[in-house]
Amino acid sequence: MATLSRLVLLSTLLSAVISKALYPQSIQRPPGILHDFQKNNVSTSWAPGHPKEWSEKEALKFQFSDGGPHTYTSGAIPATALSSDEKFLVTVNISNHVSVIDFATGSVVSNPSFTTTYSRESSAVRVLSAPSGGYDVLISMGYQEVQRLRLSAQGKQTGNATIYTGGLLSEFGSSSVSHSGRRFLTVDPNIPQYNIYDLDDTNVHIILKNQNDVYHDGSFSTDDKYVITLSRSYYDTPPRTKLFDATTGALVRDFGSTSSEYVRLSPDGKLLATTYSWDAVQLWPLTNATSEPITLNLPAHAGRGFSDLQWSPDGEYLAAGIWGQLVVWKIFPSPQVVQSYQQDNDYHDVTALLWLEASKRIAYRTFGGLEIYDFDSNLKYRWGFGANSHWADSVYQKGYTFLSTSKKWIGGLDADAIVRFWEYPA
Ligand SMILES: *[C@@H]1O[C@H](CO)[C@@H](O)[C@H](O)[C@H]1NC(C)=O
Ligand SMILES: *[C@@H]1O[C@H](CO)[C@@H](O)[C@H](O)[C@H]1NC(C)=O
Ligand SMILES: *[C@@H]1O[C@H](CO)[C@@H](O)[C@H](O)[C@H]1NC(C)=O
Ligand SMILES: *[C@@H]1O[C@H](CO)[C@@H](O)[C@H](O)[C@H]1NC(C)=O
Repeated sequence: MATLSRLVLLSTLLSAVISKALYPQSIQRPPGILHDFQKNNVSTSWAPGHPKEWSEKEALKFQFSDGGPHTYTSGAIPATALSSDEKFLVTVNISNHVSVIDFATGSVVSNPSFTTTYSRESSAVRVLSAPSGGYDVLISMGYQEVQRLRLSAQGKQTGNATIYTGGLLSEFGSSSVSHSGRRFLTVDPNIPQYNIYDLDDTNVHIILKNQNDVYHDGSFSTDDKYVITLSRSYYDTPPRTKLFDATTGALVRDFGSTSSEYVRLSPDGKLLATTYSWDAVQLWPLTNATSEPITLNLPAHAGRGFSDLQWSPDGEYLAAGIWGQLVVWKIFPSPQVVQSYQQDNDYHDVTALLWLEASKRIAYRTFGGLEIYDFDSNLKYRWGFGANSHWADSVYQKGYTFLSTSKKWIGGLDADAIVRFWEYPA
């Protein structure tokens, strides 16, 4: 098992490198679709006017880029976040220039600053509402440190930045933030532990002991009582998935080597979903402390592993993003595949999965664009690069998707490192 995981891991890292290198050549055509989303055996079709291109001005509601140049190695904005009350959008560009944007007017209200010795760009941003009325902005500088900036209710910086060790676990689709929005998880790849910090109490530093040298994932349960963590290693330390008590740091259950890239607790906390190697997802009932997992095989082999795993908010469905595939299972009464989307190659990850309107729609990013599938209407939407887009010049930026319910906009950070929002289809 140790050898298998090491192989899987090495190939995952390798494929990440190769994908960056090969993407530019392979983007000149959209991938073919071997199997598309379906309803009653009828394949999905594009919604009227779709696929849309980034250059289309009519549907574009908001666009922001902070400097340049937009090249292969230096996208302008590597990370962004929208506050949950949708008042402020915060962006950080590759020179660590922070912009707080009033989401109602689109104007920049402040440019908070911080000092870091980290030589690369930030890897994640979170904007959390503070009980006092302002906001806490968490900016992860890789896995070196998390900078916490405080904003007033008007979006202006107050006080100096606070620094926490480690980085947010955001690379793998985990928010890394508790559901209360006041605690967060970090890892430092050189130290075999996860950390829980509290934004309102500097004395809180809960340590969860698990290896995490090169590969990690973790998140809070919906009630914030538990934290699930995953570890994998290049070396011979056994990879482990562990469940901890989030208040005491005590180990609740050690699942052993689950050979996973992603681990996700169901919304009701009764099931743990873990990806298994490159071929399956496993479900672990948590009501029984010694239960064996139920294995859900993928409809098609995943040539390059998983790229996301997300429960629908009602816990009825589980969606897995895979390189070149997206699979949706209906979990009850017994798990079955209800959607399987397969591209004809595995160059493009299907990631940033976001369930919309409970489980009516799912948004995902693939092949440099944002797409939505609507389960009821069987229609598909896409906003992606066109012939004249910057992206065709080969920028490949990890995307983020946000739905603004107040404005009825969907969007976020695109693959060319520009933030765009579009009219959300009715
Ligand atoms: C869909 O097609 C499969 C095989 O082609 C068939 O077995 C199944 O009954 C069909 N389902 C519906 C709802 O038509
Ligand atoms: C970051 O933003 C600042 C302010 O807009 C700009 O001066 C700087 O050039 C930007 N950095 C990059 C690399 O785009
Ligand atoms: C911020 O840091 C500066 C320099 O270290 C210090 O003089 C100042 O008092 C600090 N401000 C606050 C509000 O802590
Ligand atoms: C828990 O799971 C184990 C292994 O599947 C099984 O042998 C045992 O009967 C289960 N216990 C209960 C209380 O269901």
